[in-house]
Amino acid sequence: MVQDKCKELNKDINLFTIDSAESLENFRLKYLTKKSPIQDLFNLIKDIAGDERKQAGQYINEVKQQAEAKFEQHKELYTKSNIKNQPVFDYSLSHNAVNTGSRHPLQITLNSIVQLFSKLGFTVSNGPEIENDWHNFSALNFPAEHPARDMQDTFFVNAEHALRTHTSSVQVRLMESTQPPIRSLMPGRVYRNEAISARANCFFHQVEGLYIDRDVSFADLKYTLYEFVKQFFNNDVKVRFRPSYFPFTEPSAEMDISCQICKGSGCNVCKQSGWVEILGCGMVDSQVLTNCKIDEQIYSGFAFGMGIERLTMLQYGINDLRIFFDNDIRFLKQFVPEN
Ligand code: DAH
Repeated sequence: MVQDKCKELNKDINLFTIDSAESLENFRLKYLTKKSPIQDLFNLIKDIAGDERKQAGQYINEVKQQAEAKFEQHKELYTKSNIKNQPVFDYSLSHNAVNTGSRHPLQITLNSIVQLFSKLGFTVSNGPEIENDWHNFSALNFPAEHPARDMQDTFFVNAEHALRTHTSSVQVRLMESTQPPIRSLMPGRVYRNEAISARANCFFHQVEGLYIDRDVSFADLKYTLYEFVKQFFNNDVKVRFRPSYFPFTEPSAEMDISCQICKGSGCNVCKQSGWVEILGCGMVDSQVLTNCKIDEQIYSGFAFGMGIERLTMLQYGINDLRIFFDNDIRFLKQFVPEN
C-alpha cells in the first residue's frame, strides 16, 4: 500500500514542470515541507510493525531523495543567488523608442478635409460599398443607357448590386433619411473597372459634400469651395470653375486650382496649363431632390465630389497613385503622425 502511494508520488514528481523561480518554489512547498504528502507517508508508517516498517521507510526515503534531487537540480537555474550573478540592469538607460507607425497619407488628407468643413458645420455620413442600382444610378438621374452603368466601368456583384462607383450614392441615402437642413461630407472607397496606371486604379477614395437648405445658391457653392482650398493648400491658390455635366447636378461645374507644383507657370503635373482639376460640383438637380422626397419648391442645395488620392498627390508632389497601396514602409513612414 505504501509502495503504491510512493509509485504515484514518484510519477507526480517526475511530471512536475519547473521552469521558473515561481514553479521551483511551488515544488518546494508541495514536496519538501512538513505538510508534504511525503511527510504524511512517514507519519503513516509509525503504526506499521517491524520489517514491514523498515521496507516502507525505504520506499518513502527514495521518493524524498528523488524530490530533493530534482529541487537541487533546478535551484541552480532559478534561485535569486543565481540572478545576482547576472549583469546589473542599468535603469538610467534611455528606452528604445517605440515604433508607433504613422497615419496613411490618404487618411491625413481626409482628416484635414473633415476638420476644415466641420468649421462650416458639415458632419460626416457613411454608406455601404455594395450598392443597388437605385442609390448608385437611378436616383441620381443616370439614364438607363448611361455609359457609367456599362460593364466596362462598373463591377457588378449581381444583377441588382454593384460596387459603388462614387460616393454620390451616400447623398441619396442621406436625403432619403433626413429632411433639410443637410450639411454633410461623405467619404469612402469607390470602385471602377479601370486599367491600373500611375493615374488610375480600380479602386480609389472620394469625399463628397452635400448642402441642402432654403435659398442655397451657386454663390454659396463657390464661396464654400474657395474657402476650403485656400485653407487646404494656401491662401494664394487661385480657382476657376468650368461648365461641366453630371446627371445629378444642374448647372454642373468642374473646379480647377492653380497648379501647386509649378505655381501656375506650367509643368508636367498641370500639362503646362498652370491649372489642375480637383473636383466636380453643381446645384443638386431638382429631379434628384424629388427622387429623395425633398420638396424642390422649398429647398435647393449644392454638391461636390473630389478624389482624395488626387488631392494628396498635389499636396505632397506624388506622381504615381499606385504607391498609396503598395504598403511600402519607406514611403509610409515619411508622413508624420498627427497630434
Ligand atoms: N460623382 C462624381 C464622380 O464620381 C463626382 C461629383 C461631381 C460629385 C459633382 C458630386 C458632384 O457631388 O456634385 O465623378
